[in-house]
Amino acid sequence: MSTPDSSEIQGIFDRIAPFYDDLNFWLSLGQQRIWKLMTVKWADPQPGDRGLDICCGSGDLARLLAKQTMPGGEVIGTDFSANMLAMAARLDLSRHSNLSSGIDWVEGDALAMPFANASFDCATMGYGLRNVTNIPGCLREIHRVLKPGAKAAILDFHRPSQPWLQTFQQWYLESVVVPVAKRYGLTEEYAYIMPSLERFPTGTQQVRLATDAGFTAVHYPISGGMMGVLVVTKPEDG
Ligand SMILES: C[S@@+](CC[C@H](N)C(=O)[O-])C[C@H]1O[C@@H](n2cnc3c(N)ncnc32)[C@H](O)[C@@H]1O
Repeated sequence: MSTPDSSEIQGIFDRIAPFYDDLNFWLSLGQQRIWKLMTVKWADPQPGDRGLDICCGSGDLARLLAKQTMPGGEVIGTDFSANMLAMAARLDLSRHSNLSSGIDWVEGDALAMPFANASFDCATMGYGLRNVTNIPGCLREIHRVLKPGAKAAILDFHRPSQPWLQTFQQWYLESVVVPVAKRYGLTEEYAYIMPSLERFPTGTQQVRLATDAGFTAVHYPISGGMMGVLVVTKPEDG
């Protein structure tokens, strides 16, 4: 499978949007919520902070972040898929009306975000870095919008180092995830996860890329290394 360009990726997520949350809940056996809670904790949000969730999709990570920045805080969820943002806004109204006032949904490209330099106290990103077409450029852009001393926590799939876990992960993606997605008419969209994961830098490589972008960085493997969280900090003098 060739590497998709930015508009193809946008199209994939526009098509997935109506089914995204339900499919992911089942495909992760409910684990995603735990991984996202860990991610928010690593971003170190404080009440009153201005937080950013990049590649926010339908917004669940943004909502978890908003719970930590309240009272007095503000969260922006940004994504380039208009359908995903429409789903986020719809979910606000139907399920999360108590939080909607704290979150703004802003259409934007993670490679050129429509935000001022040094304007966020913390940031999260879930399953976005693997999908952008320029990972070093995206890390530089995150560095640009964070205030000195601020952290971003970036959750994504990861290839485990143990061969049996690699085999399990590949089997799970090909024999469980893709067939389930097929029932929703989304075979191609989910078949794209495995090749994107094969191209995705390992934790060690992610740390190197983040360091090159100006951060101090640590990568935490979770779920046996099948997932990982890259935690980056913008130096006080950065
Ligand atoms: C796998 S979804 C993750 C959604 C959500 N963060 C979550 O954890 O469930 C990836 C999201 O990244 C968005 N995305 C991919 N590349 C992007 C880019 N260059 N700029 C903005 N959004 C992008 C897609 O539209 C999609 O909503």
